[in-house]
Amino acid sequence: MDSQDVQADLKHVLYSKQEIQQRVAELAAAIDEDYRDREVLIVGVLKGAVMVMADLARALHSHVSMDWMAVSSYGSGTQSSGVVRILKDLETDLMGKNVLIVEDIIDSGLTLSWLKANLESRGPASVEICTLLRKPEAAKVEIDVKYVGFDIPNEFVVGYGLDFAEKYRNLDFVGTLAPHVYE
Ligand code: PRP
Repeated sequence: MDSQDVQADLKHVLYSKQEIQQRVAELAAAIDEDYRDREVLIVGVLKGAVMVMADLARALHSHVSMDWMAVSSYGSGTQSSGVVRILKDLETDLMGKNVLIVEDIIDSGLTLSWLKANLESRGPASVEICTLLRKPEAAKVEIDVKYVGFDIPNEFVVGYGLDFAEKYRNLDFVGTLAPHVYE
């Protein structure tokens, strides 16, 4: 879906399809360079990271392995609590691997902070993080993120994997919703 398809629901387009593709290509180039002598396992965190994983993987010029995790944060509504439950674990043994976690968004940072520690406990050679979006004003924990697409204001965003009540994940851009949609 593009912005024409959801015009009535939209406040504004934050990043267009073209802007996202351009930034993902830049992130891929940096990752290619940093891992040129090492094999990397990219780990996508379902469901939001599906789009960025698919585009990032195809923008890379080196071989990568891919695996997926699904996690759920205990807590009320849309607020992350930091207590995370694994819904689907990796199929890959991380011992000695260079792991790159790929996320759509870091909000409070609680999910990623937990996830990074969890993966680090499995004996990998390294664990780094790549996220398309990050909200610096919403951060509740400090977390070292090596690759960030865009730092964004503390607004509710949808599209390119990000949902509101499971809708809008299949938008080809990132945008904000008009208040009538969620009020
Ligand atoms: C989103 C996002 C991160 C997390 C970030 O996932 O993909 O995993 O929230 O929030 P935090 O920094 O405050 O912890 P969500 O729980 O919405 O699941 P989804 O990817 O299936 O939509």
